[in-house]
Amino acid sequence: MGENMLTTQFLKSRTSTRDFKDMDLKKADLEKLDKIIDSEIIKLGKDDLAFIVQTDGEKVFKALEGKAGYKGVMIKAPAYLALNILNDDPASIVKGAYGVEEIITELDKMGIGNCWITVADVEDSVKKAAFDYDKGQVRLLLAIGYPVDETVREHQFDDRKGIGEFVFIDQIGKKATNEDLEQRGLDEIFAYARFAPSAYNAQPWRFVLVDDLIKLYIEDYKGEVNLLDAGIIMYYLDKLGESISMGSKWDIKPEINDDKYVYIASKQL
Ligand SMILES: Cc1cc2nc3c(=O)[nH]c(=O)nc-3n(C[C@H](O)[C@H](O)[C@H](O)COP(=O)(O)O)c2cc1C
Repeated sequence: MGENMLTTQFLKSRTSTRDFKDMDLKKADLEKLDKIIDSEIIKLGKDDLAFIVQTDGEKVFKALEGKAGYKGVMIKAPAYLALNILNDDPASIVKGAYGVEEIITELDKMGIGNCWITVADVEDSVKKAAFDYDKGQVRLLLAIGYPVDETVREHQFDDRKGIGEFVFIDQIGKKATNEDLEQRGLDEIFAYARFAPSAYNAQPWRFVLVDDLIKLYIEDYKGEVNLLDAGIIMYYLDKLGESISMGSKWDIKPEINDDKYVYIASKQL
């Protein structure tokens, strides 16, 4: 199997875990996770964000039950990883989500399952009590632990948008054809990027290909969860693009406004 096949396979089977074994994370796994986080933070910028691992899952669950998660449905897990944003820059949230996806890649290798949990509606004081921090704000949680069901599942196809619904050429609304994408070597990349998770599975990302640039927008921007959605899809594109050496970095400059399409970032092909 080629490297590319492996990547696509792996992103296809990267599904959320919501049922965790009632078992603490092993000490060796926690130590590994600490190292992964340390190197991630160096990459992302320690002044902008931090990650907090809370191994007292019970404490977090009790504090956030009825408050975090879709409709207050908190997911019970032996441990949680919190993304703590230390400034007011929307780009930090985008970067943080990207970093969480990089961490998930490593968690997968350790057999640790995960599920993103939204904390957009949770009061500051509640989050602070659960995660013992004083600076910044926790913007997102990842429930982590060993999955009850260890069989590898693949994503469903039927709940994902078609490529023509989210990839445009030159301007928003002008659908990219298969040929447009093939010419640029992007057909497979977008076919698999569709499996990226998003809050409420809303898939709000829109891409516009302009010359050798990929521009990322969010349709109907609804707040910080969409910045997380953006960071996640950027990671997926990078990971899938490795095989065609799409090695350029994203230039992240969110322009938050009331427009139908909010610009987030671009990347050179
Ligand atoms: C920013 C964000 C917040 C999320 N919040 C929750 C949540 O609170 N509860 C939950 O069950 N899933 C949550 N999810 C998971 C998504 O619903 C899920 O990844 C998506 O529906 C795709 O499902 P799959 O990963 O099983 O393919 C969240 C995902 C993202 C990206």
